[in-house]
Order: sequence, then C-alpha cells, then structure tokens
Amino acid sequence: MPLSKPRLIKELIGRIPPSQRADVAGVLIPEVDLQKRIALMGKAIAKDYKGKDVLVVSLLSGTVLFLADLLRRLEFPLRVDFLGVSSYGSGTESGKLVFNKELKLDVRGAHVLVVDDILDTGKTLRAVTEKILALKPASIRTCVLLDKKERRVGNIEADYVGFQIPDWFVVGYGLDFAERYRNLPYVGVLKPEVYAPKQSLIRKPSR
Ligand code: PRP
Repeated sequence: MPLSKPRLIKELIGRIPPSQRADVAGVLIPEVDLQKRIALMGKAIAKDYKGKDVLVVSLLSGTVLFLADLLRRLEFPLRVDFLGVSSYGSGTESGKLVFNKELKLDVRGAHVLVVDDILDTGKTLRAVTEKILALKPASIRTCVLLDKKERRVGNIEADYVGFQIPDWFVVGYGLDFAERYRNLPYVGVLKPEVYAPKQSLIRKPSR
C-alpha cells in the first residue's frame, strides 16, 4: 500500500520519553494505521496458506514488534523460527551482511514465510532467500512491513508489503538507529541532525 501523501504528523509524537521525542521529526505511520494494515496482511496470508505446513522465519532484530502483531492475525497452525542477520555498515548505509543466529527448526518441505521489517536495497532478503532455498523448503514467500523502493538494487520484491515509503530515515516499531528507537510504538522519521554528522566536524571550515 503506497502512503497516499507521505507527511509527518508532529502532534502524535506525544507520549514518548522526551529524550527520544526530541530526535523524532514526526510520525509517518501511526499505531492505528499499522494495526489496520497488519490485520489486512494477516487475512491475505491466511487465505494463501490455508491447510499448509507453514514456517514463519523472522529476521532479527527489526521484526520484533511487527512479528508479534502479525502472528496474532495469523489464525492457523504454524511454526516460528528466527534468523539473525545484520548489515554492518555506517548508520545510514548498508554494509557487509553477517548471519549471527542460525535457524533451529527443520525447513525441508515447509512453506516458509520470511518476515522482515523493511525492504531497502534488497540485499538482506536476497541473501536470506538463497540461504533458505538451499534447505529445500516446499515454497518460500516474503513479507515486509515497509518497502523503500527508491533504494532498491536489482529487481527483488516482497510478496506481501505493508507500506511503500519514501527514502526517509525511519525508526520505531522495531526499526533502529544505532540500536535505539526500536520501542517507539509508531514508525517515525529521525531528524537528520541525529544521523548525519555535523559538517563542521568532518570538514575544515572554508576560508
Ligand atoms: C535492516 C532491516 C532489514 C535490512 C534491510 O537490518 O531490518 O533486515 O536492514 O536492508 P537491505 O534491504 O538494504 O538489505 P539491520 O542489518 O539494520 O539489522 P536489524 O534488523 O537488527 O536492525
């Protein structure tokens, strides 16, 4: 679902600890919209997977909040496992991909639904899909809450998408900057001064 007119809702920053509130420019997707959309995604997924042996594979750590809400909407028997994968780069650029937790459950013959918080360049989802396909599942599909199409490298898409968002630095509802802000109950936009180093610190002043 594309956000019809991406805008920041500043008055919804409200009940966040002031220390974090000060860093957030505004709310992009409020809690109520997240829940409505996730309910619809749950219905679509349940319809597609009726009667199948489903294994939900959640990518750590950004999916924690999304996964908890999505799972409650999937009213059919399923198994859940976690794959730890992180991109180690600078705060805003994705870097080297490292798997830091392996799957525990048997994937062979299962219908795998990979759940991630955001599809950005696509590097993570591509690597995860390849890794799981090697384990011979019956099928594999992908589900992301957010999709930043502008940043895509190559032609990877997710099968289920919550919201298409502009190329803004989003945090909250599981998404972090330097491991913080995951606990915000909405998807917010970080103020540039939080993630962009001050010009004065990296450049000598011109004369
Ligand atoms: C983030 C996010 C996705 C991935 C998307 O993970 O959770 O998994 O980047 O980026 P890509 O499409 O460019 O690969 P990150 O490595 O920051 O780990 P995290 O989930 O622990 O925050």
